[in-house]
Amino acid sequence: MPSSSRAKPAAPVSTVILGTGSFAPAGVLTNAELSQRMDTSDEWIVTRTGIRERRIAGPGESTSDMAVQAAAAALADAKLAPAEIDLLIVATITPDLTMPATACMVQAKLGLPTTAACFDVNAACSGFLYALDTACAMIGSGRYRHALVIGVEKLSTIVDWTDRTTCVLFGDGAGAVVVGPSSKPDVGLLGTRLGALGENVELLYIPGGGSAAPATPESLKAGAHTIKMKGKEVFKLAVRVMEESARDILEQHGLRADQIDCVVPHQANLRIIEAIAQYLELPLDRFFINVGRYGNTSAASIPLALDEARRAGRIKNGDLTLLVAFGAGLTYGSALIRW
Ligand code: COA
Repeated sequence: MPSSSRAKPAAPVSTVILGTGSFAPAGVLTNAELSQRMDTSDEWIVTRTGIRERRIAGPGESTSDMAVQAAAAALADAKLAPAEIDLLIVATITPDLTMPATACMVQAKLGLPTTAACFDVNAACSGFLYALDTACAMIGSGRYRHALVIGVEKLSTIVDWTDRTTCVLFGDGAGAVVVGPSSKPDVGLLGTRLGALGENVELLYIPGGGSAAPATPESLKAGAHTIKMKGKEVFKLAVRVMEESARDILEQHGLRADQIDCVVPHQANLRIIEAIAQYLELPLDRFFINVGRYGNTSAASIPLALDEARRAGRIKNGDLTLLVAFGAGLTYGSALIRW
């Protein structure tokens, strides 16, 4: 049995992001290559989505492998050793296995202490924000000290590569942050606004393979284990709830949209981001956008973009960042961070 000698630290004043990291598999799949495989075109995909290429993990490159790469980079950025992590949350809808949690595999591969709490969160593209909020609350309780929060997906294994209406949208990747306590007020995660519209499950889901519809030879043949989506309805709801969620959190904190230095939105579709910018009356250059290079990487999308935004100098100390997401569930969420 591992020893449970975790000291009970005092509750911190705030929880801050101490480091970020990301990982994208080397395999690039361009729109031109997709056009050779199916009836689509670079022009159609770019005009409707802004996506030019996406990364595809190799057969030997698992979700937990990608998570480990992103997490190691975040730990290095935070200047923390694996031994200092006592909480690991992995947000993903593409776990290595249905059971156990991918977090357990990441724990073992990273060499985290056996006294670290490790679990997965499934909130699809909002998963990272759900996991971040959970980690901050657990650290805020004073019972945990340093958390690794990872968003990671190998969506290439759950898309139907014969369905041009969905497969062109998604890609693989990982992003991670290290969260810890701070005695400074008014920095770190200032607040979150999470929610879900559970009556809309069938707008974006995988019908087969769960306990409601276990896998059968027929379900496999019918492709029931791949993503099904009603794109137009999802588009409209995405714009509406992301705008509302952003407005709610700004109002809660008495802030105007133009006080945000950088918005890091879920990277699903450039047109969705443009619509949100328009509704919030913010110039598009206030948004960090990398959907063109990665497509939609679901739970990995925000932490991957956040890490790239920091490395590109788009986020500096003192800045205010708004994260805003939307995904299957239908889940949504926003978060405000002061650096
Ligand atoms: N290449 C070429 N043509 C395609 C295509 C593709 N990859 N995918 C669909 N089409 C065709 C359709 O079959 C349709 O043809 P038709 O008019 O002959 O029936 C036409 O293009 C228009 O399709 P439609 O679905 O109306 O396009 P759209 O403007 O709604 O764009 C999406 C489709 C998927 C890009 C858009 O709805 C979307 O981005 N939705 C949100 C998806 C999302 O972000 N999901 C994840 C949320 S976390």
